[in-house]
Amino acid sequence: MFQCVNMCVCVCVCVCVCVCVCVCVCVCVSLGVCVCVCVCVCVCVCVCVSDPAHNPLYPPPPAYSPQPELNRNTSVPEVRVPVVSEDEARTALLQFVESKWNYSTKPARNMTFRTLQPVVVYRYWLETYTETRTSAWTSEPFSGQTVDGPQYGLSPPPWEVPVSPPQRYEDQVQMTRVPHSSFVKVCHKCNGCGRTRCTHCSGRGRKRCTRCHGNGRIRRNGKSANCISCHGRGRKTKNNIDNFIPDRQPDFPDEKFSKVKGDSFFVDENQLVYPIYGFPDQEICNASKKFITDHLARFSSSCRILQQRQTIELVPLTHANYTYNGKNFDYFLYGLENKVYVSKYPTACSIM
Ligand SMILES: *[C@@H]1O[C@H](CO)[C@@H](O)[C@H](O)[C@H]1NC(C)=O
Ligand SMILES: *[C@@H]1O[C@H](CO)[C@@H](O)[C@H](O)[C@H]1NC(C)=O
Ligand SMILES: *[C@@H]1O[C@H](CO)[C@@H](O)[C@H](O)[C@H]1NC(C)=O
Ligand SMILES: *[C@@H]1O[C@H](CO)[C@@H](O)[C@H](O)[C@H]1NC(C)=O
Ligand SMILES: *[C@@H]1O[C@H](CO)[C@@H](O)[C@H](O)[C@H]1NC(C)=O
Repeated sequence: MFQCVNMCVCVCVCVCVCVCVCVCVCVCVSLGVCVCVCVCVCVCVCVCVSDPAHNPLYPPPPAYSPQPELNRNTSVPEVRVPVVSEDEARTALLQFVESKWNYSTKPARNMTFRTLQPVVVYRYWLETYTETRTSAWTSEPFSGQTVDGPQYGLSPPPWEVPVSPPQRYEDQVQMTRVPHSSFVKVCHKCNGCGRTRCTHCSGRGRKRCTRCHGNGRIRRNGKSANCISCHGRGRKTKNNIDNFIPDRQPDFPDEKFSKVKGDSFFVDENQLVYPIYGFPDQEICNASKKFITDHLARFSSSCRILQQRQTIELVPLTHANYTYNGKNFDYFLYGLENKVYVSKYPTACSIM
């Protein structure tokens, strides 16, 4: 429904009554064979009904679409690397082990760390907050209320219809009445007869009860209506989010990152943001450039870009190698929450 399509399809039904006056000049060449030339003037009166339900109005392209400046880029002033102490690494592993019924805490208590290798993982986010508008006819029963019609002035163009400011970065749908676009018409649902057929009972006035298997019955009444039509407008704001995280450690399943928080040490917010340049992780720079180009192409032609925000997070990842009972094992600590990922853990029985 909320598409930015710049075209319109109307369906009209017309009934015409014509009155014609004709003047003819005839020449008869032989008995029964005449050639006539007639000139007619007709006056027709037509009544056309356009069904509001089949007469959607589509929005024009955005009145204002921000243009990016050429060759502008963004630099990141500081860079962070993760640090984890042996105590933190041991505590996290113990907590993990205690949450599993079949893991012994003994190895975690008595292991000897060989290495704690921090892996630098940055996560890049791009959010583009956009707005689209569409309009459509809608109707309501007329019962003498004030009708804000064209006699009060011209309806404003779509992007000038006043709406309350949206909550930033939150998806939202807002409906509003277009000023001066209302009028009273014969109800198209009931053709002015004041009643519509009940859909539940197909107009029979009775409906078989489903709960009592037809033993009892309920009654439904048709309802009467006069219509007021108005030109409603929908406004939809949407936060379009993309994120990228490079694979820095093949032994660690990257999908685990989606469940943890990182440390957002760089947040850049503007109507349009520019690609990150000169950041030590080139894949992040590339992702930034790609996403920004993508979002601009995707949204500036169809919607209005309200705001953009790009964020770089440091997502902690530490590879811990340890020895237990003369054997080498390893695990990963990840996220600000210090979650643990273990692919192989010494069993209590292996001590024997
Ligand atoms: C980014 O900006 C810096 C200085 O503002 C400039 O030296 C550099 O060439 C720019 N890079 C790109 C890719 O535009
Ligand atoms: C504990 O049980 C889970 C299944 O419930 C299994 O995947 C895992 O390998 C077991 N771990 C140990 C150390 O036995
Ligand atoms: C812990 O490990 C050390 C050697 O690393 C060993 O001497 C000691 O007995 C172990 N303690 C327990 C409780 O297993
Ligand atoms: C980043 O993009 C440039 C050009 O688009 C490419 O040459 C380079 O290999 C990319 N770097 C990474 C780390 O993907
Ligand atoms: C830690 O252990 C893994 C697998 O056992 C190994 O591939 C890796 O090189 C080790 N890392 C260090 C820093 O020793």
